[in-house]
Amino acid sequence: MKRIMLNQKSGMSYSDIKTYVTDLKVYQNRFQIFPSSIYIEQFVSSGYNVGIQNIAELSAGNQTGEITASQAKSCGVKSTIIGHSERRINQKEDSNILINKFNEAINSKLNIIYCVGESLVDYKLKNTSSYIYSELNDVIGKVKIPKNIDLCIAYEPIWAIGSGLTPTNYEISEVTKLIDDYLNKNNIKADVLYGGSVNEKNIDELLKIENLDGFLIGGASNHSDKVIKICESVINSTK
Ligand code: PGA
Repeated sequence: MKRIMLNQKSGMSYSDIKTYVTDLKVYQNRFQIFPSSIYIEQFVSSGYNVGIQNIAELSAGNQTGEITASQAKSCGVKSTIIGHSERRINQKEDSNILINKFNEAINSKLNIIYCVGESLVDYKLKNTSSYIYSELNDVIGKVKIPKNIDLCIAYEPIWAIGSGLTPTNYEISEVTKLIDDYLNKNNIKADVLYGGSVNEKNIDELLKIENLDGFLIGGASNHSDKVIKICESVINSTK
């Protein structure tokens, strides 16, 4: 069954979380949720499979405002997102920072979703393949990923995130192939996800992409009714 990863970003308020946790209880085994860190405890204590949206680059020393991989692990967190384009752009996270985060996650045995994706300009210039290749090679080409880490590569074109636009199924499938080729050549085991404006309306169409292992979902993940519809579609797709 295709995997569902929910990246809530900064979209939920405290007062909405309680209802959300209750609404999705029946479906909680169908997805992994990445809430704002301040809500992690509420999901963990209700038995959800929880990831963290970001970890600190380094664990040594005092770091005001940061959450280290080992702190996350000690709270019951299972995975972390690394390389999300919003952080690459807004927090200026470059390959060196991302490599450090990989090593922190690996040391704390956190599973990893590594995000890659091209800008609209690169998409229009047909640079997608070379761009994705660099984002893979500059980071996962430079770390040793142990077999006990569950790695996912999420293809998230920057122009598709939160825009309502998505590449065609053919385009997604071509990028998935490219990522799979890279992984095979380098003897790395990972699932490939697609992210960028996935919602309850386009999920059935996206589920037709055979070589894809799942989805990383942002905006829609803040609405329990949409998450339920997405889960139902994924479940029905295997019947
Ligand atoms: P979106 O975000 O589903 O709102 O486009 C996806 C993501 O950024 O992970």
